[in-house]
Amino acid sequence: MILLSIETSCDETAAAVVQGGREILSSVISSQIAIHAAYGGVVPEIASRKHLESLAPVISQTLKDAGIGMETIEGVAVTRGPGLSGALLVGFSAAKAIAVARKIPFVGVHHIEGHLFAPFLEQPVEFPFLALVVSGGHTHLYHVEGFGHYTTLGRTIDDAAGEAYDKCAKIMGMQYPGGVLIDRMAQSGNPDAIRLPRPLLRDGSLNFSFSGLKTAVMQHVMKNPLSIPGQAADDLCASFQEAVCHVLAAKTEAAIRQCGATRLVVAGGVACNSGLRGRMATLCTKLGVELYIPHPSLCGDNAAMLAVPGDYYLSHGHVSSLALDVTATWDMDSIKETLK
Ligand code: KG4
Ligand code: ZN
Repeated sequence: MILLSIETSCDETAAAVVQGGREILSSVISSQIAIHAAYGGVVPEIASRKHLESLAPVISQTLKDAGIGMETIEGVAVTRGPGLSGALLVGFSAAKAIAVARKIPFVGVHHIEGHLFAPFLEQPVEFPFLALVVSGGHTHLYHVEGFGHYTTLGRTIDDAAGEAYDKCAKIMGMQYPGGVLIDRMAQSGNPDAIRLPRPLLRDGSLNFSFSGLKTAVMQHVMKNPLSIPGQAADDLCASFQEAVCHVLAAKTEAAIRQCGATRLVVAGGVACNSGLRGRMATLCTKLGVELYIPHPSLCGDNAAMLAVPGDYYLSHGHVSSLALDVTATWDMDSIKETLK
């Protein structure tokens, strides 16, 4: 199928045309980051209004880039949740309108399902696999048995990894979103310079916690004021990145051992992180596990990733009803029940 996919769950307005759930014919992402940066984070009302303004031009550009017209589109995949309700509604309503006008099916997809399957846009991954999804809102370990069949093995009990990056960057006086800035500065810093906690490292669960790490960074900055650029700031970034990557790798290793997994997918915006990519590569070599991390351009929010599960669902008759609504929260483990 040739699908149009639409993503408006947070601060990127994105659309893509994807063939067969694999081949990206075009992908356009219009980011609102510069607008929200002035407020230190995403402002939901502004996000919705900006999606309304941007979505039609983004879709037009996507079709133009693919060299096709709307008449060639055979189905629509769209993020149904989780995310900001007002922002989700913009993309979801547009998807329904296109489906009605063109008399084609549409399917509402879980945003994290999109992240999970982003590697499939580069190469197929055999089921089952273990997945670590690390983004601004999620830090989850899933056992994935097939499309729609997910079991949560562990999750953050407070902040997500991306959220911790962005909050620590803010504490250090950097602009939102600071994850990528910390990553860049960490490369010139000493990861052993400052001893930061490794939360829940030895609690025996596969859960994560990052809020204590953020508090430790705040206490360190209060006692040791920083200037950026500077070696002290680079050292703090490197030490913070080391703590986050250490915990992510240790819990992922425990999950691999627990499930006897032979394949690992790492996805979500934080999968762009250089420290995490290196750490996961080392871990998988040590354990003899195949590692799939998408190219950084497919790790952050985009619409192409939604077309992978979208194509599977639509070609297996799992079409969403026009009566379906968006959902700000949505448990991945519950999806399998809806496919029975
Ligand atoms: O998946 P994503 O684009 O959006 C959500 O679904 O949340 O992830 C965004 C998160 C932000 O917190 C951002 O700071 C973080 O990913 N991020 C990074 C890096 N690039 C993006 N965090 C650490 N290192 C990076 N290189
Ligand atoms: Zn995302």
